[in-house]
Amino acid sequence: MQCGRIGNMAHKAVGIDIGGTGIKGAIVDTATGELKSDRIKIATPEGGEPEAIADVVVQIMHKLGSVDSKEPVGVCFPAVVVKGRTLSAANVSKKWIGFEAEKLFEKKLGHDITFVNDADAAGYAESLFGAAKNNKGLVLMTTLGTGIGSAIIFNGVLVPNAELGHLEIDGVDYETKASYSAKERDNLDWNQWAERLQKYFDELVKLFHPDLIVVGGGVSKQYEDFLPLLKLDTKIVPATLRNNAGIMGAAKFASKK
Ligand code: BGC
Repeated sequence: MQCGRIGNMAHKAVGIDIGGTGIKGAIVDTATGELKSDRIKIATPEGGEPEAIADVVVQIMHKLGSVDSKEPVGVCFPAVVVKGRTLSAANVSKKWIGFEAEKLFEKKLGHDITFVNDADAAGYAESLFGAAKNNKGLVLMTTLGTGIGSAIIFNGVLVPNAELGHLEIDGVDYETKASYSAKERDNLDWNQWAERLQKYFDELVKLFHPDLIVVGGGVSKQYEDFLPLLKLDTKIVPATLRNNAGIMGAAKFASKK
């Protein structure tokens, strides 16, 4: 696929997904969720500091080609985002806490952006184009990666900034036990990891009684190794948009602004 100019094309927006290990971006058809360019990926700079991350976002925009000043640009980030400020920083530099992040990106890019939490973007995309498409009722999306991201979607409406990865279970912030990075850190096999996930999802069900749970994050492509090990009355399914969900959701949010 060609990277290139997106000016004058209806239903197109740029989506950029900032993660603890990589920063990805693409041009998205916001009517269908389809990527309309190559997906550009650059490693997240060591330390995850604001200036360095913003510089990578600028590089990604350049690689995507020139963007008309009216084209929507959405950026999602692994932290609580309220009115353009990042209020937390679980797996990035602590400098992001209370930081005017949206302003920094807009200054560096010379372009307005829409700035949202990464799991909110992914969950929103799954509810529109992926595993939760056409689902009424309460959908919980969880992303199992460096941390645990979460999104609450009720009848297609997102409740922003749910931080359910940080539920305290057995006295600990449970993303430190049940994220995919915890599986790797503790050398857990699928069964051992599933025991922790069982505890985590039992707690989510007890508190929210969702109609559907969607499990995303890179590891969701290996869902056959761990989802069948879980015993839940609630339907639990793998995300279908894989690594593109954040990009698609960020672009979609931007297109609605
Ligand atoms: C952060 C969330 C984020 C999630 C996934 C958590 O540690 O607190 O804001 O959505 O990681 O990146």
